[in-house]
This record gives sequence, structure tokens and C-alpha cells, in this order.
Amino acid sequence: MSFSLSIAGKAQNVPYPVLIAVNFINSSDIDVSIPIDFADDKTVDDTKSSIKLVTPGGETFVDQLDALDYLAQTFPQLLTEKSKSQEWVKSALEKLYVKNFKDLATDLEKLDHHLNFRSFVVGYQYSLADVAVWGVLRANALMGSIIKSGAYANISRWYNLLAEDKRFEGSVELLSKSLAELKKAAKTAKTAAAGGKKESHKASFEIDLPGAEMGKVVTRFPPEPSGYLHIGHAKAAILNEYFAHKFNGKLIIRFDDTNPTKEKVEFQDSIIEDLKLLGIKGDKITYSSDYFDVMYDLAVKLIKDGKAYCDDTPVHKMREERMVGDASARRDRSVEENLKIFTEEMKNGTEEGLKNCLRAKIDYKAPNKALRDPTIYRCNLTPHHRTGTAWKMYPIYDFCVPVVDSIEGITHALRTNEYRDRNPQYEWIQKALDIRPVTIWDFGRVNFVRTLLSKRKLQWFVDKHYVSNWDDPRFPTVRGVRRRGMTVEGLRNFIISQGPSRNIINLEWSIIWALNKKIIDPVAPRFTAVNSENVVPVKLLNGPKEPYTETKPKHKKNPEVGNKEVVYADQVLIDQEDADLVEGEEITFMDWGNVIVAKVHKEGDVVKSIDANLHLEGDFRKTTKKITWLADTKDKVEIDMVDFDHLITKDKLDEGDNFEDFITPETEFHTKGLADLNIAKLKEGDIIQFERKGYYRVDQPYEQGKPVVLFTIPDGKAVSRYGAKK
Ligand SMILES: *[C@@H]1O[C@H](CO)[C@@H](O)[C@H](O)[C@H]1NC(C)=O
Ligand SMILES: *[C@@H]1O[C@H](CO)[C@@H](O)[C@H](O)[C@H]1NC(C)=O
Repeated sequence: MSFSLSIAGKAQNVPYPVLIAVNFINSSDIDVSIPIDFADDKTVDDTKSSIKLVTPGGETFVDQLDALDYLAQTFPQLLTEKSKSQEWVKSALEKLYVKNFKDLATDLEKLDHHLNFRSFVVGYQYSLADVAVWGVLRANALMGSIIKSGAYANISRWYNLLAEDKRFEGSVELLSKSLAELKKAAKTAKTAAAGGKKESHKASFEIDLPGAEMGKVVTRFPPEPSGYLHIGHAKAAILNEYFAHKFNGKLIIRFDDTNPTKEKVEFQDSIIEDLKLLGIKGDKITYSSDYFDVMYDLAVKLIKDGKAYCDDTPVHKMREERMVGDASARRDRSVEENLKIFTEEMKNGTEEGLKNCLRAKIDYKAPNKALRDPTIYRCNLTPHHRTGTAWKMYPIYDFCVPVVDSIEGITHALRTNEYRDRNPQYEWIQKALDIRPVTIWDFGRVNFVRTLLSKRKLQWFVDKHYVSNWDDPRFPTVRGVRRRGMTVEGLRNFIISQGPSRNIINLEWSIIWALNKKIIDPVAPRFTAVNSENVVPVKLLNGPKEPYTETKPKHKKNPEVGNKEVVYADQVLIDQEDADLVEGEEITFMDWGNVIVAKVHKEGDVVKSIDANLHLEGDFRKTTKKITWLADTKDKVEIDMVDFDHLITKDKLDEGDNFEDFITPETEFHTKGLADLNIAKLKEGDIIQFERKGYYRVDQPYEQGKPVVLFTIPDGKAVSRYGAKK
């Protein structure tokens, strides 16, 4: 027998430590080579594990820690310092895979401390400790931005040093290359099987809809017109649109207006607008209320078939019966009695009618409580915003949706898997009514850390003036995140990359903002701004006598973004934090040239002004400081750069938590600044970059005598002052 190693490339915790350790062995001059097999899967064939290491002796290891232990023992010359490494290996595997920044932070802190003055985790050369700690961190999606942020300087230094060794980062590349090849091979096989038909692949993410046929798919997005759309709704809307589009089908936007107590016309309009912000139009707009007549007839049919009954059991008693699985005393009412109550008392909204509801007669003892005779019609005397007082009773969501989905020709009903328990009920109703069945496709709901989606709680923030309104940039509403600088493409890419992921997870906002950055970076025009506080005037002694203007590209790598005016003058402004300069020092003014500092005027630690000489023949490649400058002329523009923090301080509120106990004390931060004249021409919604500062979205464009207000767009790296990633 010989060695073999299998690695599950899609494992939730990619087992880089074992992969790297084996690459150490394979690239050494020991006469052993362990072949590696990659699986495009979450687990390795017959195991539930991400690895399988088979030894010549016939032993099999499916646990990373055991496999690493074995390798360290068998190849002591390679993976040195075995005894001292052990603790590190164990704790890395246990603690550093976590994808929650807060939990990770404590351990990173410790590691950072440990790596002070050390090049390796233990001893003076690579050991298994380095392999394990680096491997686990490399597998952690949070690490990319943490390393870049430099928040843990000693970890970053060590991490980047190891990354340069091909046994480390090379292992990562090997895995991604192998996966790509596997995918390609699988696709070729599939295409061949499908008779060589080629599909077009627009999105870089692909998710599939079972049984979907080109040109025949009909999806629907059924919001209740009772509030603004939030980021959770956006997922459903975008997925529905994605599939309708991908299969050349149709998307129906259906207002699920079956509860007159909660619904208002104005919400209908706001939802249409919100969908527009998401780039979603829909092929048709419909209303559940259009089908009140049809649904009434179908409910009558159910009663006549003995599949529904009217029940006047008091609410609390009904709830109790449902909990324990008891039959209602009214379950065996006759068809005639049920018909009379439903079609006269309930329909007329009489006193007797109001006491009753209509229940589907499914199975009062069903293990799935959703099947314990659910209510399907209930009286409500509030006038409806579309049908007025024509109806005194309304179908319940659970009855309405399967009926209308079937009638409207929906082929695939997408819904979050919170409804999974109710799927059998949905199917029962279509079957009982003998109407066309619809395929249900569930997907996982998205939750974000430190984010409340409940309408009631968000309303509280509005009422207490913690935020300006429902479109506040701190709100998870579609309006809010758009105003904060989220692009439709960023949001779409995020949602499609999530695909049908079944887990209800608590995501860091940084992930979605990092995707957004990829969209805006190639197109955001670049401008210049300096902070007003302690801004430092620089006198260029040999500078231009008169200010002059040149035309420059707004984006050096993308000429399509257009041109801007840049003003040059002998008086310029720089940021205080860039002004820590010494006399005689040569620096570079970005996009102008080199400058030699002549004199620094200070008061205490604060630089008050600088005299300098342009040295345009100097080589900018030789300077280390490249700083931003702004001509101090009349046409510079006052700006207000606004940054925000999460509204609550706890990542995930627990059941018993009162959200009011976790309000972030301060969530809005203003930085006054001065920017170049081009800023005066920007429109609301424009997304730009201030060089060396970050991305911003214009919230209030230029108006005489007022600063231009720009919102900082998170780029996935910023960490809030209360510890969470923004
Ligand atoms: C880590 O690195 C920083 C920056 O180089 C240094 O100031 C610090 O003392 C080091 N150690 C710890 C424990 O942070
Ligand atoms: C319900 O309304 C209809 C039509 O207005 C009427 O004919 C019928 O008598 C009413 N039934 C009851 C029980 O009030």
C-alpha cells in the first residue's frame, strides 16, 4: 500500500494545515511522495470529513489533528519542534476557524503578542505550529481584510512572510487550480451529455433551479404592502428576478394584500420604488386581492368536499389544542352548517361570523404542527385599500399563496426555508383543490450582524430620532443601503453568490461591502480632499506665479471615466497627518512631482505651515512619502464627510435580549474637509474616491454656501469603534 490524501476543496473549514504539511513532505528530498486527490465537495467521498489520509500501513485518518500528529511523528526531520508545536496545532484547529470577528479577535490579539520579536511561532524555523496556524487562518474568509488592515502588525508580518514560501500559498493555489479543473471537466462532461449544447454564462456565480425549462419559468415576488423593503426582501426579489431572466421567463410582482389592518397604498408605491432601486421591474404587477372571488369559490369547494370547517373555539383554546394535538369540538360540523356559517355569517361579518374562522381539515395530530388544521380564512371589518368594504373576511397567507401561485402560472415558488414546515401545507392545499401544483424552492434567509430587520424595532429608531427616517444610511432598508453607497451590482453579486445556501447565517457586513468595492473601484472617479482640522498650508517657494489648470483623467486605469480639472498653485494644502516631515526631506506630491521640504513651522506637535521647493526633476520612485495635496485657491469646495456605525452593539441579539439595552451611543461622525473644484459638479448619488481616503457617495450636492455632504462607503475593511466590522 502507499500513501494517499484526499481533500474536500469546498469544506466549510478548508483543511489547509494537512495540505501544507503534505506539500512540505512532497517538496522535500525525502524519498516519499503523497499523491493528493481533490474533491469539488464539502466532504471527502465516504467520510463526513474534509480530509482522508491513508497510510502505507493501512491506517486511515479523517481528523486533521490526528493526521497532523501522525505526519509529525513519521517525518520528524521536516516538521520540527514537535512537542512545543502540539498545543499550537490543537488550539489553531479549535479556535481560529471561527468566522465571527469578535470571537476571533481575542485569539488574534494573543497571537499578535506572541509573534512580537518572533519570526516563527515556535523556535527558529518552520514547525508544524506555523503550518497549522497559518493554514487555518488562510482558510478563514475574515483574514484577507484583517491582514490588509494591518490591525495586527506582527501577525501580518509573519503571515506575509510565510505566504511567500510556495509550500504555503502554493498549497492554496494548488487547491483552487485543481478545483477549477474539476469544474471544467464536469462541465465538459455535462455539455457532452446534453448533446454539445452550450449555455451562456453571464454571472460568475451559477445556481440552478430544478426542472426549469428555457422560456417557461415564471417566478413571483410577493411582498406585503405594509412597509419598506429591507435587505432580506432584496434577496428574494433578486433571486426571483435572476431565475426569471436566466431562463428567459417571467417575473410577477404580486402585492400580497390580504390583511387590510396592516396595509396601505403608500407602501405599495414605496415598494415599487425600492424594487426600482434594485433594478427590478417585473413583467407584471398583480394583487392577491384580484383573486378574492376565486379564493372564495375554492374555499366553498373545500367545505363541500368536507376538507374545511368553521370553528368558533376561542383563540387561546385553539392554540392549546393545536399544541397538544387535540381535535376541535367543531371539527365534525356538517357541510351544511359550515357552508351556512362561511357563506352568510362570516361573509357578512355578522357577530356570529366574527367568532368563527375557517380551518383546513388536514390532520390535528400531525407531527408537523403546520398541518394541524391551519386557519385559512378570518373575518376582518377594516376596509381594504383596494376592495373597500366588499369583503368582511380574508384568506390567510397560507391559503392565498398556493392558490394564487397556481392560478398565475408560477412554475417555481421561491421562499425562505423558515417556511419549510409549511411546505407540506402548501402542497396539501393545491392537491385538495385539484389545482396545478407548483415547485417550491427554498433558500436561506440572510441576517447580518448588529442589524435589526423587524419593522417594529426599526420604527422605534425613527420615532426616537436615532435615525432620520426609513432611508437612513444606517438602516438595512433597500433605501438605506443604497444611500450608504451600495450598488445594485454589488448587492446582486452578493445574493447570487449566496445562492440557495440553506443556512440562516449571521453575516458580517464587510463581506457585502467588499463585493461592492469590486464594482465601484474600477469606475469611481478619483478626486482630492484634505481634512480641515489642522490643515497644513504649504508654500512652494519656486511654485507657479499664477495658478493654472490642467486636464487630467478622473481614473488613471479607466479613461472612460472621463477627465477633470486639476489646479496647480504655489499655495497648497496637505493633511496634518501627512505633514510629519523634516527639513531637507524629499517627498512626492501625487500627480505633480517631487518636493523638497525647506522649513517646517510647528507649534508643539502640530505643524502650522511648511515651506518647500518643487523639485520636478526628482525621481518619484525614490521617495517613500507620496502625499495628497490640494491647491489653496478660491475654487476649492467645502465638504462634510460622514461616517456611520452600527445602531446596536451586540452581534446577535438573543431571545431574551431587549434591543434597547444595546444601542450604540454614537453612530454618526462628521469630518470637515476641503476638496477640489470638480466636487461642485457632482450629483446626488455619484460615487467617487478621494485619493488615499476612500470611497464616498454624494448625499447632498453642491449648493452655494453649504458644504457638499458625502457619505463614507464601507469597503469591507473598516472596523467600527465598537469592535465590529462595518
Ligand atoms: C507588534 O507590532 C507592533 C508594530 O510593529 C509593535 O509596536 C508591537 O509592540 C508589537 N507587539 C505587540 C504585542 O503588539
Ligand atoms: C348576508 O347578506 C346577504 C346579502 O346582503 C343577505 O341576503 C343574508 O340574509 C345575510 N345573512 C345573514 C345571516 O345576515
